Amino acid sequence: MTDTAHISVQNLSVYYDGQPGVRNVAVDIPRNKITAIIGPSGCGKSTLLKSFNRLLDEQEKMKIKGRVLVDNENIYDDKVDVTLVRKKIGLLSQRPQVLPMSIFDNVAYGPRIHGRWKKRELEQVVEEHLRIAGLWDEVKTRLHAPASRLSIGQQQRLCLARGLAVGPEIILGDEPTSALDPISAETIERRFLDLKDRYTIVLVTHILRQARRLADYVIFLYMGHLIEHGPAEEFFNRPKYVKTQAYLSGKFIEEHKIDRELDLKGTRGPENYTQIRLALDEIPPGQILRITVDYEEGIREISRLVEVEGHRVLEAKRVGKTNWEIIAKKERSLV
Ligand SMILES: Nc1ncnc2c1ncn2[C@@H]1O[C@H](COP(=O)(O)OP(=O)(O)OP(=O)(O)O)[C@@H](O)[C@H]1O
Ligand SMILES: [Mg+2]
Repeated sequence: MTDTAHISVQNLSVYYDGQPGVRNVAVDIPRNKITAIIGPSGCGKSTLLKSFNRLLDEQEKMKIKGRVLVDNENIYDDKVDVTLVRKKIGLLSQRPQVLPMSIFDNVAYGPRIHGRWKKRELEQVVEEHLRIAGLWDEVKTRLHAPASRLSIGQQQRLCLARGLAVGPEIILGDEPTSALDPISAETIERRFLDLKDRYTIVLVTHILRQARRLADYVIFLYMGHLIEHGPAEEFFNRPKYVKTQAYLSGKFIEEHKIDRELDLKGTRGPENYTQIRLALDEIPPGQILRITVDYEEGIREISRLVEVEGHRVLEAKRVGKTNWEIIAKKERSLV
């Protein structure tokens, strides 16, 4: 582990039901910098990120090998208290997940769990963290309104405030701006740049431009393997490996590992929708479904259905003369 490392990943492999999600990854993540994890869909970005705060523990049939040291302590050690690991390491997900309570209570939630507060102190803590998250001015007159009434961009900043109020040292973000409009995304990006003096930040992104804008350090994964990592300037300007060069130049062809096929040729209309919903219900989050149809409007209609259901369309394209396919990724089931 290097002196400047905050997190040290040592020969980490993660298996889902025997299938590798990341394989033998070894990398040090520098303290008080922004590290970006990049790579094509399914390459293991979220898996690697979630291994940093033991969020994978909740997955069924998951097996993990290797070590993740945070401040020199292996967080997978038997004697480690997972609650303390999570307190030290906050996670911002793709879709903001506000708690079904007021704006104020969302931010006060963590501090209330972790200690006793006088009313005035709690008000100060809430204000301070809403300010850091760049939300205070927009919500100060309606702190007791339900958080769900905020726009998506505001909700994401509220989640950031809620995470910061617990006093973490590390902030993880799994594509934290991908559900946001460009202006809200920029606001969040600016917050990260402001925060990096005080926190170690690790962001998953599949937007190369975002990685260029934000990252001090870059980790590039491909099909579960760590291909290349290094300081951003070096990584972007002088990549060492052919795969990195191809990826950065946009010549990269994405290869999706298809977990399930759904052939809907010969049928169309509402019954297809039922089949697609069933297929997505049946596969675990993270898996990839390929849907094939023989009518062009299917691309638009099915993509919309997949997205409305809270999943992700990775690709939608014509294949052959009369067929079209939609590659969809199952996201975590919405609660
Ligand atoms: N809960 C799970 N059960 C089974 N397989 C999973 C699970 N989560 C992820 N995987 C698989 O592990 C591999 C890595 O997935 P991961 O979600 O880490 O990729 P990713 O790089 O974050 O992709 P994306 O850009 O699409 O979010 C994929 O092959 C995926 O299908
Ligand atoms: Mg992911």
